[in-house]
Amino acid sequence: MTLNMLPVDLKFPTVRPRRLRASQLIRDLVAETTVKLSDLMYPIFVKEGISSPEEIESMPGQYRWPLNDSLINFVDRLVSSGLRYFLMFGIPERKDSIGTEAFSSDGVVQRALRLLRETFSSNIVLATDVCLCQYTDHGHCGILREINGKIVIDNDETLRIYAKIALSHAEAGADIVAPSGMMDGQVKAIREALDSSGYSDVLIMSYSVKYASSFYGPFREAADSAPRFGDRRSHQMDYRNAHEAIREVMLDLSEGADIVMVKPALAYLDVIKLVKTCFPYVPLAAYNVSGEYSMVKAAARQGWIDERQLILEILTAIKRAGADIIITYHAVDAINLIPA
Ligand code: PBG
Repeated sequence: MTLNMLPVDLKFPTVRPRRLRASQLIRDLVAETTVKLSDLMYPIFVKEGISSPEEIESMPGQYRWPLNDSLINFVDRLVSSGLRYFLMFGIPERKDSIGTEAFSSDGVVQRALRLLRETFSSNIVLATDVCLCQYTDHGHCGILREINGKIVIDNDETLRIYAKIALSHAEAGADIVAPSGMMDGQVKAIREALDSSGYSDVLIMSYSVKYASSFYGPFREAADSAPRFGDRRSHQMDYRNAHEAIREVMLDLSEGADIVMVKPALAYLDVIKLVKTCFPYVPLAAYNVSGEYSMVKAAARQGWIDERQLILEILTAIKRAGADIIITYHAVDAINLIPA
């Protein structure tokens, strides 16, 4: 190595990095990354057939909300605190083999959309999860079919249902639809359905890079969406693969995705970084999922960590890795931690 190749710090030993860390004000001045409330999207569970909020046991501080004033008052409090972006999940009363309630105009998400839209008009942005697992009696994300004695998910039949779900959400007032089922071609099917019905302004945020992950455990309890048999590894990605994310994102972009997503977030910061590096011009969301949230809450309950500091560190790390949008249950905790 020649002297010219040495990093500048080593050529000039009087440089002292600690000067840049000496006080909070100086640290703030040179900070590369800051998280704001407007980076966060908050998942909300709406449930049919209840009259008051139910706390989700596996996700302390999170609730399933009924379609009444308690939901409105809760959202109102969040909006006044500066949260504006919501991702809705529905928990229906009735399930069947094709998830009919997912695309019913009277479904729980569709009714919640109309209620919130009426109350908050365009002061909030409403995104909806487009999938079938909460709505099917078998708990799978698609329509099942038997081929040679083996039960498989029928990809293209599922696309037809996803298009119907997305359209019903758009009709009820969704700003963004977010397909999470990892079927091939889901963005294209949804884009075509929206465009041909006059909803070309509705955005698609695709769960492009969604791994088959044990970090979803608490969510499946929250939403009653665990598969009754088998798993999701025939469609969700294998966590041994990072570069496959590039192909998934490329495909979704070619089909018309406006925002792409990596999920989960924390064990996948390398993937977030990779996607942001390859597609710097595409808005990137990262989903800080239920298991990541519940681990923090569990450790905090034991008094093993400083919860507020840890949340701030986690959200900042996800942003630093390259996420523009962080979908997180911690959004509520973040209200008192970070600026609007
Ligand atoms: C539905 C869906 C899941 C999550 C978001 N949408 C569960 C799954 O794929 O099994 C997980 C969210 C979380 O864990 O917070 N397909």
